Amino acid sequence: MIKDFNYYAPTRVVFGRESENEIGRLVVDNGGRRVLLHYGGGSAERSGLLDVVRQQLRQAGVSFCELGGVVPNPLLSKVQEGIDLCRREAVDFILAVGGGSVIDSAKAIGYGVPYDGDVWDFWDSKAVPQACLPIGVVLTIPAAGSEMSSSCVITKDEGMFKRGINSDLCRCRFVVMNPERTYTLPPFQTAAGATDIMMHTMERYFSKYEDMTITDAISEALLRTVKDTALALLQAPTDYRLRAQIMWAGSLAHNDLTECGTEKDFGTHRLEHELSSLFGVTHGAGLAALWPSWARYVMSRHLSRFVQFAVNVMGVTNDFAHPEETAERGIRAMEEFYHKIGMPTNIPELIGHKLTDEEINIMVDKCSRGGTITVGAMEVLDTAAMRAVYTLANN
Ligand code: NZQ
Ligand code: ZN
Repeated sequence: MIKDFNYYAPTRVVFGRESENEIGRLVVDNGGRRVLLHYGGGSAERSGLLDVVRQQLRQAGVSFCELGGVVPNPLLSKVQEGIDLCRREAVDFILAVGGGSVIDSAKAIGYGVPYDGDVWDFWDSKAVPQACLPIGVVLTIPAAGSEMSSSCVITKDEGMFKRGINSDLCRCRFVVMNPERTYTLPPFQTAAGATDIMMHTMERYFSKYEDMTITDAISEALLRTVKDTALALLQAPTDYRLRAQIMWAGSLAHNDLTECGTEKDFGTHRLEHELSSLFGVTHGAGLAALWPSWARYVMSRHLSRFVQFAVNVMGVTNDFAHPEETAERGIRAMEEFYHKIGMPTNIPELIGHKLTDEEINIMVDKCSRGGTITVGAMEVLDTAAMRAVYTLANN
């Protein structure tokens, strides 16, 4: 069966070495007159990128204020600081310079400025966003895909609740991508980014809707490209051609292109968010630590899909007489790939120790919102299934 779909990807992409020369014009074209320049913990300052952006804004005659210090797994407290600043300065446009964390912080500020209540209401399912300030992005890390996604993931400091919401209102107006700006990424961030990109595709590829062969072909090509590129980047981190493949893949993986005719699962993502909120781990690494266990937990009920993945993505030879063996070899090949790029394949490898029963209970409780919701689509995970996957990944 092919699922009906409504594909919407309104973000302008300006890609290449010269792309930064367009920033000022893009902001003005999108109505920015009083801009919030939003960024992370220092990489963009150190690389000189922020100075290029400031220069672009000045040349375009745009006034701006600044808010840096966004941390990975961005916090609600910073969002609230941003909302206050934007209101004080009458900001009409947010320019995010960074990766998923900065972009999501910008999106949350964008939602909060026109909203009278507590902005966390949106993540608490008490309200639905009705407006968002326009956002532009200068991307520095291919990973989360937030530059073209409808998603915004924020952690509430109090209680460390990490949650995502989706709305087309936060889709970015433009993203400027210069692959050269990603040369400074440490190998770990490059690898975690590649893992996240692949997972955004796999979370849509592993679907009960299996008949959209064009989407499968796009997904499989994307997965093979990112896998090969991530390995090649270990030896050649400043190869423009390699950085460019992975940067574009990051946006394509999460702008819903690979969901046309299929369905989001995102069960592994939902389970991972509890790992990053409890232990502060890097999102992509958390996904690598969980996926093999999720895969083994669901595989027998979706065997043909796992065989197709093993053969078409991981290059496993099809043992037609033993599909379970072929599928399992695909998962093992993925684990070998994770290890080659420095990613964990289970929770002890991720955090350095086994989870206690109490920690598993906390994660299951938060992920299921006290047992009131399930996660996943191809395979719906209730609290027992969540516990089973965490337990498998703990061994
Ligand atoms: O803070 P700085 O100093 O900039 O350092 C960052 C950060 O430590 C560093 N970095 C970024 N660009 C760099 C660089 N270091 C050197 N050179 C550069 N060019 O990389 C670190 C990670 O940055 P971050 O923005 O956290 O990475 P990522 O893009 O992986 O974003 C992760 C966040 O996005 C969420 C994740 O849960 C996590 O909170 N996600 C958002 C999604 C969305 N909105 O669509 C979907 C994803 O599934 C994900 O959940
Ligand atoms: Zn992700």
